[in-house]
Amino acid sequence: MKYNYDKSVLKGLSVKPFLNQVKLRNQKISEAPEDMPVSVFNANRLAASLHPLVQHTKITEVTDFGFAKRFVLTADPEKGTSKMAFFRAGQYVSVSLQIGNATLNKPYSICSSPSDALNRENSSYTLTVKHSDSGYASSYILDNWKEGDRVDISGPLGEFYYQDLRDAPTVVALAGGSGITPFFSMASAIADGIEDFNITILYGSRKEEDILFKNELDEMVSRSDGKVRVIYVLSDEEKPGFEHGLLTAALIRKYAPEGDYSIFECGPKAMYRYENDEVANLELPRRRVRQELSGDVTDIEKYGDHPEDFADKEFNVTVDIRGKKQMISCAAGTTLLVAMERAGINAPSHCRSGKCGWCRSKLISGEYYCPKDVDGRRAADVKFNWIHPCCTFPLSDMEICVYPVD
Ligand code: FES
Repeated sequence: MKYNYDKSVLKGLSVKPFLNQVKLRNQKISEAPEDMPVSVFNANRLAASLHPLVQHTKITEVTDFGFAKRFVLTADPEKGTSKMAFFRAGQYVSVSLQIGNATLNKPYSICSSPSDALNRENSSYTLTVKHSDSGYASSYILDNWKEGDRVDISGPLGEFYYQDLRDAPTVVALAGGSGITPFFSMASAIADGIEDFNITILYGSRKEEDILFKNELDEMVSRSDGKVRVIYVLSDEEKPGFEHGLLTAALIRKYAPEGDYSIFECGPKAMYRYENDEVANLELPRRRVRQELSGDVTDIEKYGDHPEDFADKEFNVTVDIRGKKQMISCAAGTTLLVAMERAGINAPSHCRSGKCGWCRSKLISGEYYCPKDVDGRRAADVKFNWIHPCCTFPLSDMEICVYPVD
């Protein structure tokens, strides 16, 4: 056999150290503990700290604004959370609630600066919850949460944050009511030097007294080096220093920069419907317009393609979850997710808006309606009968499997 190397370099190399290798190896193996060593890669540690499944928190401060409350949630080391996960300004968390027999999760935007989560001594998030006629979870929180209570929340979720690869250097933010919360976080992050973009917030409220955080917003404007601007827009009263009316295309043009900009929207569903037409008038590229979660669909009658004669109907839905089958009742105007929660089923959910896919379930049988504007499923999911119960309404008796095992 011919060797393709210079054998002369091996001359003088001692083989002694290699002679006992097998013996030494066998000795080490016999001395080793029975259990397999556990090793965690640093990348996995980092991923777990950035995306915890649950964060245990304690309410350490409550501020009552009359029509809204602000809650400071601090990491609860006694329950296993030593610090809050870092987040991008604009993200949300889903809050776990047990209301009577119902177990549910509700999304709320984090309203504080990401720098508060990084605080070593007092790592915290702030959530602001406003009274709303339709939100029984919000009413529960406003009536029951108090200092010292323990609250479990998810890790930071959602993609409603600034990304310089996709968004323009200036964002024109359209905020309606409590929809100011993610923009408050973005403005704080800019003022704190954590984010670097320009934001002009057009903040719509009915009256001056309905404006949340006006003093704090004005303070952020003054320390942001011109990067944060806030224009207060009142729909129900005219006052000097305030714009009057709605967030129209003309108003956006008035305050938008020359040239390129992105539009970010956060507010109630009615505002999104209105803004769809106004923003279309601006003829911006599609990637420049972004909307935050729209929340539960509670007004199915407003959708023209939902069959009218189903309004008062009630259906039986068989839910197969964690190997157990249970029959529940669901009205045509109620989502499958809400029907499960009311029946005491602990069904998965985060965004409640058809976007995150956390509630993704298999349709076994039955007919359903899903409004187009909240149908965030992939085409393959639609084709192969996967549904999002958070935005699925029954049109017949149904059977679904919530955690299908292939
Ligand atoms: S809870 Fe997010 S898609 Fe249903």
